[in-house]
Amino acid sequence: MIIKNADVVFADGVKKTDLRIENGVIAEIGKLAGEGLDCTGLTVFPGLIDMHVHLREPGFEKKENIESGSRAAVKGGFTQVCCMPNTKPVTDNKVVVSYIVNRAKEVGLCKVRPIGAITEGQEGKNLAAIGAMKAAGAVALSEDGKTVVSTGLMANAMMYAADFGLKCLCHCEDSSLVDGGVVNEGYYATLTGLKGSIRAAEDIIIAREICLAESLSLPVHICHVSTYSGVQLIREAKARGVQVTAETCPHYFTLTDEVIASFDTNTKVNPPIRAEKDRLAVIEGLRDGTLDCIVTDHAPHHEDDKNVEYALAAFGISGLETSFALSYTQLVRGGALTPSELACKMSANPARILGLEGGAIAVGAPADLMVADLNEKWTIDPADFVSKGKNTPFAGREVYGRVKYTLVDGEIKYREA
Ligand code: DOR
Ligand code: ZN
Ligand code: ZN
Repeated sequence: MIIKNADVVFADGVKKTDLRIENGVIAEIGKLAGEGLDCTGLTVFPGLIDMHVHLREPGFEKKENIESGSRAAVKGGFTQVCCMPNTKPVTDNKVVVSYIVNRAKEVGLCKVRPIGAITEGQEGKNLAAIGAMKAAGAVALSEDGKTVVSTGLMANAMMYAADFGLKCLCHCEDSSLVDGGVVNEGYYATLTGLKGSIRAAEDIIIAREICLAESLSLPVHICHVSTYSGVQLIREAKARGVQVTAETCPHYFTLTDEVIASFDTNTKVNPPIRAEKDRLAVIEGLRDGTLDCIVTDHAPHHEDDKNVEYALAAFGISGLETSFALSYTQLVRGGALTPSELACKMSANPARILGLEGGAIAVGAPADLMVADLNEKWTIDPADFVSKGKNTPFAGREVYGRVKYTLVDGEIKYREA
């Protein structure tokens, strides 16, 4: 198969060229003879890689399952996703890891890489069977949804993880400071009467994980950074050589806590959407390399979990189908990143951090590709989502960048209807 006349996004810039795909691999790049998929006016990105999603299977299939989540992923341009372990049962052993790997293969849409829990049952008491999970296909460890409260246990986890070549992905939240807070502490928390959570609740654990990584000379990855002060902690740690990497999500660089004034529970997410100062710092962190990745933290919920009063609603945003367009619109059209830099944040860096295949368009690489029309303007409508989770705070928003095709190992897994 040949992809013709596309603007192809490479690490060092965008070039108009053709791609030949053979046996699922990119075989040739350059002006090619013969018929092919005409991509005139379209842009080819390396298949997007989301290192932080929740697919909810096993256990919460009412919210999402591996099939619906995979379908949402390829519709969003993702060829590979890493799924968090807060399932039921928790993904804390090789049986659940194998189940996810096998089920994803049966579904056969995108590559699904499970993330194992750090502790048994995510209870924060005993380390999970890290080696067995790695052998079954786990690509990282995380307690996502919570923080490992015991610092000593977290230190042990980082050491064991490193022995097995895995990284810990840290959800940073001191629950004694959050203390039931559901939104960012500030003007809009006061205005709405919703209980606020201060930045320090996130920053203290970011600082703790950095201290551990520095003292132990081990890597650590910080999940969904939302505060200006968290960005600064990571920037300073990187400057002195700490092996810290970090991610953020579209809602943190697109929205501010002003949106909670609507009392729309689709704006409820953990960590919370913060203030303009934070939003700008997150963009600057992406621009200057402090923040390595854009992830969705795709957290689909059922209507029953969201259609309740704000304090009681579930935390989370269904993000796979909006992430590329929001990121492209906000960051590339907004002038903070080039298309190549966006591809880095959404593909190359996640691959590098977790040691995954893919992440670049190169001869010999798997033909994991995403083809988009960057000039197409469209309006986000959750009724169009194929994810079971329709929970988005972006309904009605106009964005640029429409995914037209997603190819995994050279096969078209999504084609816009
Ligand atoms: O908003 C969130 N939703 N944050 C988390 O940490 C967990 C996630 C979920 O699983 O719903
Ligand atoms: Zn989290
Ligand atoms: Zn998460």
